[in-house]
Amino acid sequence: MTRADTERIRGHLDELSVIGSDPRGGFSRLVYTERERAAHSLFRRWLDGYGLTTSTDAVGNSFGDLAGSEDLPVLMSGSHLDTVYQGGNFDGAAGVVAAVEIARILAETGGMRHPLRVAAFAGEEGARFGAPCIGSRLMTGAFTEHTLKQLKDRDSVSAWDAAKSVGLQPEQSASARWDPADVSCFVEIHIEQGRVLEARNHTLGVVHTIGGSTRVELTFEGRADHSGATPMWLRRDALVAAAEFISSVERRAQRHATSVATVGTVSVGPNSLTTVPGRVVLGLDVRDIDSERQRELTETLLDDALRIAAGREIVITARQLSDQSPVVLHGTVQNVLAGAATRQGMPFISMPSGASHDAAHLAKHVPTGMVFIPCRDGVSHAPEEHAEPEHIAQAVDVVVDAFRAIDEGATV
Ligand code: HGY
Ligand code: MN
Ligand code: MN
Repeated sequence: MTRADTERIRGHLDELSVIGSDPRGGFSRLVYTERERAAHSLFRRWLDGYGLTTSTDAVGNSFGDLAGSEDLPVLMSGSHLDTVYQGGNFDGAAGVVAAVEIARILAETGGMRHPLRVAAFAGEEGARFGAPCIGSRLMTGAFTEHTLKQLKDRDSVSAWDAAKSVGLQPEQSASARWDPADVSCFVEIHIEQGRVLEARNHTLGVVHTIGGSTRVELTFEGRADHSGATPMWLRRDALVAAAEFISSVERRAQRHATSVATVGTVSVGPNSLTTVPGRVVLGLDVRDIDSERQRELTETLLDDALRIAAGREIVITARQLSDQSPVVLHGTVQNVLAGAATRQGMPFISMPSGASHDAAHLAKHVPTGMVFIPCRDGVSHAPEEHAEPEHIAQAVDVVVDAFRAIDEGATV
């Protein structure tokens, strides 16, 4: 039985680590940059070497296809190659390198009845444009070319212009739409990005729910004043109002174990040592695996912002950047993955995903599952992010076993 090759996986990760390393530390392979495109070219080179037919669609999603012996819907695996600013080389990349190894194993053992498709989706991270999963949502139809024109980065560059700048064809976004009937099942291998597997001393997780996220940009408009000549009682300090709000974010989010809320970006204007801040723009990320709690927490926090602002003569404006509900993954796929892990002799736990993933969008259309591997100390979205190639190899063996079971008739 051909099994996943840990050293080959390590080698692919090393090759990828040459692309997009950030001199400040970590990796910044942002969506719709030459770095992301170079990573996709590397992905296609690997697959060309294994004899797959490779392609990149108009909006930057890349695929490799291995023919099946019968004209059946494809079995699909993949993830993303873009990163956050100064992120790690495993978030997304682990799942793409795993999918490449799945393709190698199946190509070298004669394939299956079902064709295999492996994917690297463009722009899974929301770090640059605020909205996550751009490529997979253009493929599934949740996003259109008009979305690309609306999404702007911190330099006011639209996702449309950014896609054009790297040679893609956003005007042909419609051509990137998939037909879900072409796909039998999708499985994404991903690092957990949390500490549950490590804490439970496990190296494999089968995901049951992918958390939702509501992301809001909040602007606090006060008044810029001289820091020496303006008495405290006369100020409309936007940064103090924002600071009061940020502490309410922490307090409110502690109410439920599955809720998290983060203010990850803050920009201060005029950001001058001797000027009372007149304007603050911050980014709020609210998540939960329970949709009701996710929305309630978001509403509570927006009410807090209004209450704080009113008390300080600050004007608040809120702009929703993105909103996606939690997604419960298909029980049939979870069962097939659990059976495969058992056949492979690998203990596993069933668990939620606090992070969002491309799988959450494919799951709305086709049977979808996720397999987690641990990341060291649970750290992710940071230069210290690390996962073990051995764990990726284990996950590959489980997904190959699961695909073979589906190919032989297991229900999904
Ligand atoms: O932010 C997330 O949840 C994921 O890592 N894109
Ligand atoms: Mn990811
Ligand atoms: Mn991520």
